[in-house]
Amino acid sequence: MKRLLVVNGPNLNLLGAREPEIYGSLTLAQIEARMQEWARARDCELRCFQSNSEAAILDFIQAEAGAAQGLVLNPGALTHSSVALYDCLRALALPTVEVHLSNIHAREEFRSRSITAVAALGVVAGLGASGYIYAMEYLIDRDE
Ligand code: DQA
Repeated sequence: MKRLLVVNGPNLNLLGAREPEIYGSLTLAQIEARMQEWARARDCELRCFQSNSEAAILDFIQAEAGAAQGLVLNPGALTHSSVALYDCLRALALPTVEVHLSNIHAREEFRSRSITAVAALGVVAGLGASGYIYAMEYLIDRDE
């Protein structure tokens, strides 16, 4: 049985109410429930975590990486700022797919640069909440 981590960064706890025209109307709890349902059907265990704190995210990933086979990561604004999160992903080498609800390449210019994506296997951006499912599907189905 595969075990995946699902990590959401700053302000993603506000999904549902936060700029719904950009991020959609689903809450994070609803997105995680969809993911859990999808994972259960594929005999996969998900461990979901959200924090507004960069340190808490690093601590969680460091503590859980050893017992997981992959990471679905929406770093929120840490995408564009966090060398610490990039270093963490590099150090742990946990297969990671980065997810963005919005198309970060079609917004403010500062969003088009992802520091963390350099350490990811791939990125899903702009496909809304479905992007989390696609990322999870990839991590479950990949062979290594
Ligand atoms: C986001 C895009 C980021 O630029 C932003 O800071 C977020 C959400 C997304 O899911 O589209 O918080 O990661």
